Amino acid sequence: MTQEREAATPHHEPVMVREVLEAFQLKPGDTVVDGTLGLAGHSKLFAEAIRPGGTLLGIDWDADYLEKARLRLEPFDSITKHFVHSDYRQLARCVRGLGLLPNAILLDLGLNSGQIEDPNRGIAFSKDGPLDMRMDRSRGEPAGALLNRLSTNEIEQILHDNADERWARAIARKIVERRKTTPLKTTGDLVDAVLAAIPPGARDKRIHPATRTFQAIRIAVNAELEGIDETLVDAANCLVAGGTLISIAYHSGEDRQAKQAFRELSATGEFEELYKKPRQPASDEIARNPRSRSAKMRAIRRILN
Ligand SMILES: C[S@@+](CC[C@H](N)C(=O)[O-])C[C@H]1O[C@@H](n2cnc3c(N)ncnc32)[C@H](O)[C@@H]1O
Repeated sequence: MTQEREAATPHHEPVMVREVLEAFQLKPGDTVVDGTLGLAGHSKLFAEAIRPGGTLLGIDWDADYLEKARLRLEPFDSITKHFVHSDYRQLARCVRGLGLLPNAILLDLGLNSGQIEDPNRGIAFSKDGPLDMRMDRSRGEPAGALLNRLSTNEIEQILHDNADERWARAIARKIVERRKTTPLKTTGDLVDAVLAAIPPGARDKRIHPATRTFQAIRIAVNAELEGIDETLVDAANCLVAGGTLISIAYHSGEDRQAKQAFRELSATGEFEELYKKPRQPASDEIARNPRSRSAKMRAIRRILN
């Protein structure tokens, strides 16, 4: 890979690398599925561990990142690589379609820091951009269209359920009031509506007043909390005996589903959880990479098939 290409790629520090590699115990020739390939931070290490002769399947719904990851993995030419632009909720179907028998599957949920900060995606409130928020621009409804269509109650529910926003009702009302004259088009329009809804004296000083609103709407636009449990159960059922599935969650709604899925799998007697409680990053990692602090890692191994 050239330095220019590397420099054009945003940086993302892979989370809990030590713990992931310890749980996977990869060896040359193994097959790994990275359901959230991102910038291949984890997958570069997987590729190193399974070469020569291993197989890596990387899935991401962000076509730009998938291409960046492909370039990053170019030097690993002694393994077989598959890159699939898809939702990870199609993971089991992709694995079966390619006829793979995975020794390891990773779902490192949520988004990459670079994706959140990119003003063109309309996910960040810090820079003005189109009010879109879709991770896969080839489908779905942009945030602007959603907010200009839903009722006050529906918007309130999204803000409450996805981000525990205390001012959910006031913000939803303000959005609906404003769109009657001018539909929301940009991230700036949404920030302005939030600021108009929360009285200055009541604002949380530690985070921007629009943080929760943006998070909640992004989750709704991409249906980020839907079907994680089912995806994990289906993924685990693709593993070979002795194979391991790991989920890393950053949102309580994600971890709740991972917990539920892993309990369900253990109850069958075919799987065993590696840890009783989710593992969290060590203090040295949190100091180096503060974004890792909310990570919760769960792992489950297939003991029979
Ligand atoms: C936290 S990042 C993964 C970072 C990666 N492990 C690394 O070290 O570079 C999550 C990635 O999953 C992708 N993603 C999130 N939800 C997805 C979904 N439902 N289907 C496919 N990809 C998804 C995002 O586009 C993002 O690239």
